[in-house]
Amino acid sequence: MDWKTIENEAKIKFKGYCRVCRECNGKVCAGEVPGMGGAGSGSSFVDNVEALKEIKVNLRVIHGAKEPDTSIEFLGQRLELPVIAAPMTGISYNMGGAVSEEEFANSIVEGSIAAGTIAMTGDGADPAMYDSGVSAIRKCGGKGIPIIKPREQKEVFKYISKAEEAKALAVGMDVDGAGLITMALKGQPVGPKTPEELGEIISSTRLPFIVKGIMTPDEAVKAVRAGASAIVVSNHGGRILDSMPGAARVLPGIVSAVGDETEVLVDGGVRSGIDVLKYIALGAKAVLVGRPLAVAMLGGGTQGVSFYLKKLKNELIQAMILTGCASIKEISPEVIFRGKI
Ligand SMILES: Cc1cc2nc3c(=O)[nH]c(=O)nc-3n(C[C@H](O)[C@H](O)[C@H](O)COP(=O)(O)O)c2cc1C
Repeated sequence: MDWKTIENEAKIKFKGYCRVCRECNGKVCAGEVPGMGGAGSGSSFVDNVEALKEIKVNLRVIHGAKEPDTSIEFLGQRLELPVIAAPMTGISYNMGGAVSEEEFANSIVEGSIAAGTIAMTGDGADPAMYDSGVSAIRKCGGKGIPIIKPREQKEVFKYISKAEEAKALAVGMDVDGAGLITMALKGQPVGPKTPEELGEIISSTRLPFIVKGIMTPDEAVKAVRAGASAIVVSNHGGRILDSMPGAARVLPGIVSAVGDETEVLVDGGVRSGIDVLKYIALGAKAVLVGRPLAVAMLGGGTQGVSFYLKKLKNELIQAMILTGCASIKEISPEVIFRGKI
């Protein structure tokens, strides 16, 4: 199995929904939501990639970091790499439907575990989408995290109980899904949560709770006060609102606001091991990867998913050797080039 073959196969399966570009940066697919692009002009997706690109790193090669350890502890689990599969749903209308929602969720969850990490699964306009993810997680002994849309309170409680029954490691909510009109049209209304409603949701379960879709320090503080065990700094891959900054621009401010109190994850535009290194140097505990794993799944199924994650791990090891980091904890802000040394 090699990446080029996976990409070629994915290109056929996507039927044009994703062009599998040489650089996955949101330009060709701008405005394609549904589809694989970013909303409106596509600028929020594009800026995820641009913001990471603007960051340069310091080469350091006179040290003893010969065999870097890429593992981390997250929610009591050892992950072999600080990368988690991002939740993705809507395979029929976003990816062309060559595979089913179930096949997709199974491969993402199983492939992530095979690579030594875990996946989050998503929720969409058809409730069966959430169930596909939960069922994939259940089959793997609960090793995964279902992410629920900001549905009405009573619905959220039902969805949480499904995650509990599947013995999921944690459960969460993409609070940034608050404006999805498509969901309301299909009789599945979503909306913003007040701090009290969020607190009520989080305290209703004994599972650790992850709040995904935080882009400002004040909302990070609100999520932590409501009881979140972790937050994901994310603009949802640019899919829900145009003109947002790339996640790398807001991450440091959010980490300095809540980094001592909660686990801060981040996503958007991760395309290589160096991108993983950059986000960690900016203060993230781990990163989520979305679109490249959709390519990996459509092009290579479960094996494609684990292949891509292992590829990222190898690139991260390489980047750690060349920046002098023996462990993930050693990836400090010093790794980033600030214009003067
Ligand atoms: C096709 C597609 C479907 C998605 N579905 C969900 C979802 O159901 N729930 C969710 O929280 N995020 C969803 N996301 C957002 C991702 O979890 C993630 O935040 C984003 O894709 C990260 O950016 P990247 O694709 O550049 O890595 C989706 C993204 C894509 C591309």
